[in-house]
Amino acid sequence: MSEEAQVVFLPSGRRGRFAPGISLLKAARTLGVDVDSVCGGRGICGRCQISVAEGDFPKLGLVSRADALTPSGDTEAAYAKRKSLLPGRRLSCSARLCGDVVVDVPPESQLHRQLVRKAAEAISIELDPVVRLCYVEVAEPDLHAPSSDLRRLRDALARDWGLTDLDCDGSLLPMLQKTLRQGGWKATVAIYDSRTMIAIWPGLQERALGLAADVGSTTIAAHLCDLLSGDVLASVGMMNPQIRFGEDLMSRVSYVMMNPGGERELTHAVRQAINGLAAEAAARAKAGAADILAVTFVGNPVMHHLLLGLDPTELGGAPFALATDMATRLPARELGLDLHPGAQAYVLPCIAGHVGADTAGVILAERPDLSDEIVALVDVGTNAEIVLGNRFRLLACSSPTGPAFEGAQISAGQRAAPGAIERVRIDPVTLEPRFKVIGSEFWSDAPEFDAAVTGICGSGIIEAVAELFLAGAIDADGRIDGTMAARSQRVRADGPVFAYVLRDGDPGIWITQNDVRAIQLAKAALQAGVRLLMDRLGVDKLARIRLAGAFGSHIDVKYAAVLGMLPDCAISQMSSAGNAAGTGARIALLSAKARGEIEDLVRRIEKIETAVEPNFQAHFVAAMAIPHASAPYPELAKVVTLPERKSANRDSGARRSRRRAQQ
Ligand code: FES
Repeated sequence: MSEEAQVVFLPSGRRGRFAPGISLLKAARTLGVDVDSVCGGRGICGRCQISVAEGDFPKLGLVSRADALTPSGDTEAAYAKRKSLLPGRRLSCSARLCGDVVVDVPPESQLHRQLVRKAAEAISIELDPVVRLCYVEVAEPDLHAPSSDLRRLRDALARDWGLTDLDCDGSLLPMLQKTLRQGGWKATVAIYDSRTMIAIWPGLQERALGLAADVGSTTIAAHLCDLLSGDVLASVGMMNPQIRFGEDLMSRVSYVMMNPGGERELTHAVRQAINGLAAEAAARAKAGAADILAVTFVGNPVMHHLLLGLDPTELGGAPFALATDMATRLPARELGLDLHPGAQAYVLPCIAGHVGADTAGVILAERPDLSDEIVALVDVGTNAEIVLGNRFRLLACSSPTGPAFEGAQISAGQRAAPGAIERVRIDPVTLEPRFKVIGSEFWSDAPEFDAAVTGICGSGIIEAVAELFLAGAIDADGRIDGTMAARSQRVRADGPVFAYVLRDGDPGIWITQNDVRAIQLAKAALQAGVRLLMDRLGVDKLARIRLAGAFGSHIDVKYAAVLGMLPDCAISQMSSAGNAAGTGARIALLSAKARGEIEDLVRRIEKIETAVEPNFQAHFVAAMAIPHASAPYPELAKVVTLPERKSANRDSGARRSRRRAQQ
């Protein structure tokens, strides 16, 4: 027993020699091995569990046996009785070393564990909790050594957790004395950002909750997470109630401009909505909103400003000055949120006047700064927010696509909601269509199809235009070919031009020449934005394109490519990033390290203002053609047969398109 014993911790492989009798938790701490603890080694929280890897480890040069640890004693028995301990598991704070041993620290016992993401190109999230729970036993007051309860609490935290110079959130003080006495001088303190005591409970508190919210102009979504395990406990969402002040962002900014104090109404509406979502999410996790200790937000610049109670008027016109482009940290109560009184809010930084904290969230979820290859992240809304680059350089811009991709400015357009046509196929010979409607699993030519059709949404109109182009009914300039009327009664005169009738009846769904122009203008703006950033970066090819947001999840990338929404890229490398902004909010909720990284990245990103870039217009004109006036699309040609280009002079054709679109 007197000789030193060797211990190796897996998976880190850290090893050391210690005098027998040392607890494994202490050995782990000495070696810098990541083992969690809330109770500070008192055998009551169960977070420090490990298991012995038994057997011969020739590479490590030792034989490991379970009896190299002291047998399970009363503390572990008491814990196992209360909470149950899996077979083979030991509490590392109770088990002591008495021989050579290899110890496995399971992921759930690691404070900085990796959360594996499900997406195909997953990066894992490394937990770096912003809130830590620290159990302490505080000395009772002593008449002979007078000191305040707060001072003795801080002394206990310094002694047991090595936490010194802690601040105390103002909300903690009123409950401090009662809580300490209620818990018999045993308490758990929540420490935020390793700096501030924000909450205190009598005895042992084992759960800390946080909320990650994505404040979109149409919908607000929130995920309730366990801050210590990273688990998502509930996900909730609702329409943004600000819609009653204006359907889109600019009409809400106009509302503020026209109505003095209007920003307060909009701020109140969004904060109330978040309070409702927090309560709903907490109830689903059998908790209360008062259990939420941390909250993070992403949102476009206007949403960001309104959430923070900032007047968004400056964002309504050039030069689109943000009030702040830094991350905002403040007590959640200052945002009018009814969470735990000490709860802390973190709002991700905006990047530029049109490139918001939602894009910062997308960057955090996708991490283009870790890629060797050139990646484009595209979030399509009323504006397309574009980030392009790799680990050496990142650029961002916003391109004014307008709302056509969301179904607005389209004759039969509507939001992506039940009843909207979302998929379209057109027979290249007969031009007969079939389509799918949101809310129905059947195609329109199936006998079971009986969905009510109300309009066509962004993905539907994109597919319709792309299919008509592939069928030769729309030429590269975007003109609906009237000669097709002889071949199909679907092509009909519509004033001096022609339209394609996707659906007869009530409502009739026509793809008009103006609809095609609106889509051309939107896609040309998007592609021009991407090409502008490619120019700046000096590249002519993208290795990967990730489409973020609801639109990105809905769209069939093949049709986006046919239409030339984006520069040519292997179809297999174009994919949806899902709700990447929301994922970014969740990462920032779970990782202090990630917060530092995104703040640093946002500072480094080069912001390009498309409005003042002379090349934007030239790119725009060239991108009006389908898929493009001059750029080759070899990757696209591998998966679809593109109609032969008929026009001799693509640029003049594109210019005609542009003129017609502007008329
Ligand atoms: Fe809490 Fe071991 S550290 S039970």
